[in-house]
Amino acid sequence: MDINDLEVVDLDEKDGALVIIDQTKLPGVTEYLHLHTQKEIWDAIKKLQVRGAPAIGVAAGFGIYLAACDICEGLHAKNMADKNEAYDEFASDFFNASDYLNSSRPTAVNLSWALKRMGKVVSDHKGEAPASILPHLKEESYAIKAEDQATNKAIGEHALSLLKPHMGLLTHCNAGLLATTKYGTATAAMYLGHERGYGFRIYCDETRPLLQGARLTAWELSRVGMDVTLLCDNMANSLMKSGKIDAVFTGCDRVAANGDSANKIGTSYVALAAKRHGIPFYICAPSSTIDFDMPDGDAIVIEQRDPDEVTEAWYKNRMAPENIKVYNPAFDVTPASDITAIITENGIAREPFTESLKELCCR
Ligand code: MRU
Repeated sequence: MDINDLEVVDLDEKDGALVIIDQTKLPGVTEYLHLHTQKEIWDAIKKLQVRGAPAIGVAAGFGIYLAACDICEGLHAKNMADKNEAYDEFASDFFNASDYLNSSRPTAVNLSWALKRMGKVVSDHKGEAPASILPHLKEESYAIKAEDQATNKAIGEHALSLLKPHMGLLTHCNAGLLATTKYGTATAAMYLGHERGYGFRIYCDETRPLLQGARLTAWELSRVGMDVTLLCDNMANSLMKSGKIDAVFTGCDRVAANGDSANKIGTSYVALAAKRHGIPFYICAPSSTIDFDMPDGDAIVIEQRDPDEVTEAWYKNRMAPENIKVYNPAFDVTPASDITAIITENGIAREPFTESLKELCCR
């Protein structure tokens, strides 16, 4: 099976649609959705039909481009003679649409990062006819996607330089190609190592409550022929104790300037256990996921999700009493002190992260 046969996020220009694989249907069904309206795109991000920080960023880029096309069409119908007036109305509607998409999920910084990039295109063309801005927006949205692929491959090369053949690698959640557009971040070294015959043994935490590790990571890695073992989240410590794990790789949704890293709930436990067993714990972070405006992890907004994800959404029968109170944060923050290194496309950052991240990613 070829890794390149999956197109996680794309633009169908003819249909005027954002095209995504519906990740809530995996691994049973590979279904592509064509999303036309901003509401459809907002819902798909919220419901995790498209998910993973970089993939959300790429979806937002294409999504806001489609919004710009619709806004332009509306202005064309109004036949506005004054170019400046048309631009002002276009920009105002564009930034409203951008705020709307940005409200779909709070933790992954790639969403606002991609929307800001697209917004800069609009601001850079201040006063120009809206229709003439569209090609620039389209170009920027494709650039965000192309950069994601190159970034992940570079992260993979850096991560692979830390590894030897036949190692056992643990990962949590899905920071795989399904969370990006190719290779993934935490899985990039696994894919590259697989192509080069490293024979890694991969272990995937199932990742309660939404099972991204079981449904997505275990699926995407095993389908290309990797040696994959699935475990429940509460088994990682025992697995590490057994000596089968040589390194842990996870992705991240937002890295603060000091290296504190928000990622899928449970990541901070995995880091703690790795530290206890002397196993290196690596965060794989495209520079688009590093938020230099956030000094540390305390200010990162953690998304709280629907209780039914814990009690019934993934079960044939409800698994908890009716009306039970539920605690369901989608992410936690791993303190920088529990992270061995943060692997970016520009190189490997180690403590003190405040300096090393800046040096690698602010060039
Ligand atoms: O809630 P999700 O499935 O979007 O959470 C995804 C994660 O936490 C990933 O590990 C993170 O976004 C990194 S993806 C390269």
